[in-house]
Amino acid sequence: MRHYLQFRDFTADEYEHLFRRTRVIKDRFKNYIAYQPLADRMLAMVFEKSSTRTRVSFEAGMFQLGGNSIVLNTGETQLGRGEPIEDVARVVSRMVDIVMIRTYEQAIIERFAAHSRVPVINGLTDEYHPCQVLADIYTFVEHRGPIAGRTVAWIGDSNNMCNTWLQAATLLGFKLNVASPAGYELEPSRAAGVARAHLELFGDPLAAARGADLVTTDVWTSMGWEEETDARKDAFAAFTVDEEMMAAAGPEALFMHCLPAHRGEEVTTEVLEGPRSVVWEEAENRLHAQKALMEYLLLGRVET
Ligand code: CP
Ligand code: NVA
Repeated sequence: MRHYLQFRDFTADEYEHLFRRTRVIKDRFKNYIAYQPLADRMLAMVFEKSSTRTRVSFEAGMFQLGGNSIVLNTGETQLGRGEPIEDVARVVSRMVDIVMIRTYEQAIIERFAAHSRVPVINGLTDEYHPCQVLADIYTFVEHRGPIAGRTVAWIGDSNNMCNTWLQAATLLGFKLNVASPAGYELEPSRAAGVARAHLELFGDPLAAARGADLVTTDVWTSMGWEEETDARKDAFAAFTVDEEMMAAAGPEALFMHCLPAHRGEEVTTEVLEGPRSVVWEEAENRLHAQKALMEYLLLGRVET
């Protein structure tokens, strides 16, 4: 049994497989060909934080694969009244076939997985958001071919998305340029030992974007850090992805954002709605990529 708790839980070869399956599953869906290998399977989704895309993509995806899903907003469950996560894991995983969790510390999802009888998927933690980067890289590959050897510019907060991109860069062989304001840089322990071919740190976002094949950013204030919102608005003021930054990246550069976006903060409306932005395809690909992920975790390497 496998879990998907962080990006490096899978090998490059497994990602090749997932990207192939995402293409197959997406093509079937677009052609109205039913594909229901997960009939009678049940997904439980545990949400300790808000969600639109993750909730809809997993619920619609499981239904389209022939299965069903249950949403557990923790405030409405015994978890919200202090039931230990280990007990919830042991109970829920006796009743369902696969679990997705969105929570705070990575340690919470690891404790759940350690006590689960079924595969557990990280639907976002404070540290990582692997399902999003899975869909993002699939989206890049769809538009531009293999990502190995390319350069991705991360502009903004060194958050769960940034940490996940870094794992992907070392695993799939591309370079990540990270530009963050002082005080919001990548944790030194994450950067330690990563080759220059996979990570370069910048203070100047324009320099980070120069020549990049993909420019990507995220909210300045992630879920859980709301009380820092005002301080972050000041600190990040020079880190808005705008036309000048996209011009530095070059005419072929794509723009991505995991969404929800704050126009005028981390990205201008012109870039978000502009010709290089693939944010809506990126969001849609959560559906297709996570269907491939659930197929893989429950059925292994399906090639049909
Ligand atoms: N990108 C993403 O995970 O969106 P939600 O918070 O809406 O799920
Ligand atoms: N970094 C953001 C991503 C939201 C999908 C957050 O954690 O809130």
